[in-house]
Amino acid sequence: MTAQITIRRPDDWHVHLRDGTMLEAIAGYTARQFARAIVMPNLTPPVVSVAAAEAYRDRILAALPQGADFTPLMTCYLTDGADPAEIERGFEQGVFAACKLYPAHATTNSAHGVTDIRKLTAVLETMQRIGMPLLIHGEVTDRDIDIFDREAVFIERILTPLVRDFPALKIVLEHITTAESAEFVADSGPQIGATITPQHLIINRNAIFDGGIRPHAYCLPVAKRERHRLAVRKAAVSGSPKFFLGTDSAPHGVDRKESACGCAGIFNAPFALESYAQVFEEEGVLDRLEGFASEHGPNFYGLPLNEGTVTLQREETIVPDVVGQGDIRVVPFHAGETLRWRFVD
Ligand code: DOR
Ligand code: ZN
Repeated sequence: MTAQITIRRPDDWHVHLRDGTMLEAIAGYTARQFARAIVMPNLTPPVVSVAAAEAYRDRILAALPQGADFTPLMTCYLTDGADPAEIERGFEQGVFAACKLYPAHATTNSAHGVTDIRKLTAVLETMQRIGMPLLIHGEVTDRDIDIFDREAVFIERILTPLVRDFPALKIVLEHITTAESAEFVADSGPQIGATITPQHLIINRNAIFDGGIRPHAYCLPVAKRERHRLAVRKAAVSGSPKFFLGTDSAPHGVDRKESACGCAGIFNAPFALESYAQVFEEEGVLDRLEGFASEHGPNFYGLPLNEGTVTLQREETIVPDVVGQGDIRVVPFHAGETLRWRFVD
């Protein structure tokens, strides 16, 4: 049995680092395991300008533990009024790594999101021309579409025509949860990739209702049926360069989760690599973890691979029930469970 694995330093291609005291409490978890991360812009107010992204990047850097070697890659939140010139300037200046498309009201802090993708024609033309990736929360928001079908319907109604109309646009379908998404991405050209979270590899929708309602297993897109989990897992461990690590770690304080209307989001940053390693080991392809975690993402984004390595040791690791500092208390993914691996550095 493998006793330890060492891989090139990985990156997280989708994370929510928040702001203020929450940022201060949680940024270190991501910086400990990952060299870089694509930071989501769904703050209040959202990050829509180059100046706002630079200021947010400075706050992230200030919140890191002393000596952390971590580069936040900033994203621009697309609104109906998104300005192609501002987006192009931010990309050319190396401030914006990508733009994030939230359909309006799809998820946390998405009220300023896009109401109709046709409003983005000029922005998408610019992004296609300059090679800037579009990161998509792929769910329709129509209330008459069943929540478990919203990702598949998004592919049919929005993504398929989008890829047809912008054939050279780089697109990352974020946090895929369905067989339909895995198949769509696998069958598309090399300009289409996808991120995959630990939770969507590990839980199916039963986890949300396991003996009672389980707010800490609730995120968006919501976990689906077992057959979808298996399809997403197959994609992740396939070795295909189209699929890469993106935790979607999304902390909310305990009170915001354990509520009559609990927030969506799973906080998986503290044990993210341990989670993924467990999955790749179960599938018998630990040797493919490095591609998924450390190579496919940078290659898709056209960024250099990281120097240096990290090591995971086979060692039972007990996940605490709650983490945080000061007033911030967040329940991590796998709370109370024992994992098989430990990130050692
Ligand atoms: O579960 C989620 N939480 N999904 C999202 O798309 C947003 C995120 C958040 O910001 O909390
Ligand atoms: Zn997210």
